[in-house]
Amino acid sequence: MIKVGLLGAGYMGGMHAACYEALNDLGVKVTAVADVYEDAAQELADKYQDIVVYGSSEDLIENADVNVIDICLPTHLHAKYAVAAMKKGYDVFCEKPVCLTESDMELMLKTKNETGAKLMVGQVIRLWTEYVWLKETVDQGTYGKVLSGVFQRVSARPTWAKEGWIHKPELSGGSAVDMHIHDTDFVRYILGDPDEVKSIAYRNEDGMIEQIFSIFSYGNNVAVALEGGWDFPQTFPFSATYRVKLEKATVTLDNAGKLTVYPNEGEPFEPNLEPEFESKEDLGGNVSSLGGYYNELKYFVEGLQGKNDLSVATLEEAIESVRLVKRELESAGGLVVK
Ligand SMILES: NC(=O)c1ccc[n+]([C@@H]2O[C@H](COP(=O)([O-])OP(=O)(O)OC[C@H]3O[C@@H](n4cnc5c(N)ncnc54)[C@H](O)[C@@H]3O)[C@@H](O)[C@H]2O)c1
Repeated sequence: MIKVGLLGAGYMGGMHAACYEALNDLGVKVTAVADVYEDAAQELADKYQDIVVYGSSEDLIENADVNVIDICLPTHLHAKYAVAAMKKGYDVFCEKPVCLTESDMELMLKTKNETGAKLMVGQVIRLWTEYVWLKETVDQGTYGKVLSGVFQRVSARPTWAKEGWIHKPELSGGSAVDMHIHDTDFVRYILGDPDEVKSIAYRNEDGMIEQIFSIFSYGNNVAVALEGGWDFPQTFPFSATYRVKLEKATVTLDNAGKLTVYPNEGEPFEPNLEPEFESKEDLGGNVSSLGGYYNELKYFVEGLQGKNDLSVATLEEAIESVRLVKRELESAGGLVVK
């Protein structure tokens, strides 16, 4: 049995707990949860059976009956607890963005290499059905090479984060690092690191980036535009879309989640995709189903069981994606400009 100790009982902690519950039959169970707000940890534990509650991450890592640590903490804390967990001999799932600083990146890599721990990062879009389809379509050359693309991820301002940590640049990296990294990472996944990066940003009154617009170029002929932002009104719907022009077709994911292929010749059609796993619970946040979160944790559990090599969302890849977002921030003039 894979016994998971969950660090953080906030939005993502709740999401991961629901996914592990749905994956019980694979031989995985959350056995411990920690949150500095112990009542939040207790509330999460009460939804399931036999979960021991801890008031600190240190206490859980030191004393709980677990063999895996799943980190759903504010981003600036990821490296500290990932390192502690790996040193204790545990495998780790760490939410994205994996960490914010070069020194944390190096420490995580060094500890992983020294301990031999397995570590997967929650770059969930790599496991999100419509994006998995696009990755396979590009890799298999079904419609030829990518010529251009537009990737967009926009939402209402996040309000759930405890003590507003997500709006503090030194804790979250702001919208560009926290949310936009999904698309930066995915574009890297299908096309690699761009030759050139150009970004501009819209900033709030404190000078912090709230919306970022980037162009990645690959040689002379391939260009991709990306937009990420989370400063829209509370009624504004979350939207994650793409439009990719390939040699023989253009493919779109619209903001209703509909995937369409427009072949250069012939009629448009919607590819048949596996339906997403639906949760009975109210999950809050941006999603109504377990979606890619279920897929990624299933992949993680199966990786721990030796059924895959956990190569889809590695620490090394996640670090390179943070570095690419930092190139975007640099091009835009910095995360915060007073
Ligand atoms: N993959 C995705 O699509 C996705 C979506 C949202 C958030 N995230 C990431 O997940 C992580 C968590 O975000 P969230 O939205 O769940 O935030 P959140 O504020 O809802 O939850 C974080 C929880 O951690 C707790 N906490 C803080 N310090 C702690 C400590 N030292 N020990 C134990 N508990 C502590 C807080 O009390 C809070 O309950 C972030 O890195 C975020 O970027 C990923």
